[in-house]
Formats: sequence, C-alpha cells, structure tokens
Amino acid sequence: MSDSSAPLPVVSVRNLERSFPLVNGEKLMVLKGLDLQIYEAEMVAIVGLSGVGKSTLLHCLGLLDTPSGGEITYRSGEKTWKTSQLDEDSRCQLRNHFIGFVFQFFHLLPDLNVLENVLLPSQVSRTSRAWNKNRDEFHGRAESLLQRVGLSGREKQAPGTLSGGERQRVAIARALMLSPPLLLCDEPTGNLDSRPSESIHELLRELHEDYSTSILVVTHDPDLAARGDRRLQMVDGRFEAESTS
Ligand SMILES: Nc1ncnc2c1ncn2[C@@H]1O[C@H](COP(=O)(O)OP(=O)(O)O)[C@@H](O)[C@H]1O
Ligand SMILES: [Mg+2]
Repeated sequence: MSDSSAPLPVVSVRNLERSFPLVNGEKLMVLKGLDLQIYEAEMVAIVGLSGVGKSTLLHCLGLLDTPSGGEITYRSGEKTWKTSQLDEDSRCQLRNHFIGFVFQFFHLLPDLNVLENVLLPSQVSRTSRAWNKNRDEFHGRAESLLQRVGLSGREKQAPGTLSGGERQRVAIARALMLSPPLLLCDEPTGNLDSRPSESIHELLRELHEDYSTSILVVTHDPDLAARGDRRLQMVDGRFEAESTS
C-alpha cells in the first residue's frame, strides 16, 4: 500500500518545451525540456533573470498557452488530467477550477466594482441560471475573501479608486474565489512599492497556510523568494540547483 501521508504533486511538469516562431523562419526556444513538481500545500518561488522564460512557464501551467512539447499533469485527490489529453471543454474547466492566476498588473476589470471582480470566476464557470441558484453562497464567499484580504467595506468601490496594493489584494481574492488547488503568481509585487509589497508577501504566506493552497510565485524580490518552501533558479529555460529554506 502507498503511504497516504506522503505529499503528492498537484502538478507535475515533464520535459516541457515552448518555442516561438521568429520572422526569419527560425524558432526561439524558450522552455527547453523543463521538469517541475509542485506538491500539495507547498509554496515554491521561481527566480531568474528577465527573459529566461518564467512567464512562459506560468502561462503554460495556467493553460493560457500551449506547450510545444512535454506534458503537464494536474492532480486532485484520485483524479488526474494530462495536457496531451484535454479537449477544449476540460481545458476551460480545469483553468477555471484548478488554477488561480495573479498578474503583475492586477488585470481587474475597471467597469466592475471590487465585489463584482471577485465574483467573476464563479460567473464565467456557470450558466447564469446555475449561478443565480447559488447566488447567496457566492456572495458570502466573495465577501469573506475580501474580509480576509483586508478589504471589508470596499465592495462597491471601483478598482480605479484603490491603491496598487489594494488592487492586488482584490486580484488575490478573485484568484481564490473557486478555491483552486494551485495559485500561480507572476511577479505579484513587481509593480508595488516596498511597504505594500511586504504586506502582499505576508498575505500570500498566510493564505497559503490558511487554505493549504499550493503556490507557485515568480519574483525578483528576495524577501518574497525567501518565503517559499523551495526556491528554484531558472536559467535559460530550465531549472538550476534548488535551495530549501
Ligand atoms: N508570444 C511570444 N512570441 C514570441 N516570443 C515570446 C512570446 N512570449 C515570450 N516570448 C519570448 O520568450 C522569452 C521569455 O519570455 P518570458 O517568459 O516573458 O520571460 P520572463 O518572464 O522570464 O522575463 C523572451 O525572449 C520573450 O521575448
Ligand atoms: Mg515575466
């Protein structure tokens, strides 16, 4: 029998490749046979120079981009999904329910208020009839997430009236709306000053501990990188030696 207490990977990446066509007919190889496993309730930081392929990796993991080769396997309980076997429908389902994404520039919808931004993942993943049936439950979840990220009372505000750090808090609440097993953060404090950055670092670590969400965070910030359980250095489309904190 397998050891049921052994941590299992929520996502496994095997021999991942991504290249982009260049105008001269050649190919730019960005991810060059990369391997990675993120375990349940683990926070992993990825560091590396600009242009080495960190965002490309996150886009592939977040099913926003399609790899040129290799395979990504997602796992929740007994169920697994492999990128090579996904049809468009399951790809969308997986993107909605398995993955939360936090970007450097927040990507909040300016015409929706704070609460509506947080509710968005629940709405796009259902028909409006199904959503209306569970409306109170979704509102309750969105409001409690906003409270958790310190934005209670700001539900009706437009994102444009919030500070950068507050906008990122809204984006984090939105990313957690459907309780995804995996949260991908691409330079979440790259656009913030040091004080709001530090409070986002703390928030990510706390949410990670509260919700046992696995987090993969790309960052240039040594303080955020140090909060990970592991730090991976990306060099030229692959990972170099690991360090464990
Ligand atoms: N859609 C694309 N088309 C062509 N080249 C791309 C595309 N996306 C990324 N690249 C190139 O891939 C390389 C890695 O980019 P990226 O993953 O954004 O790096 P990082 O996030 O580590 O700074 C860069 O040279 C970039 O120009
Ligand atoms: Mg990047």
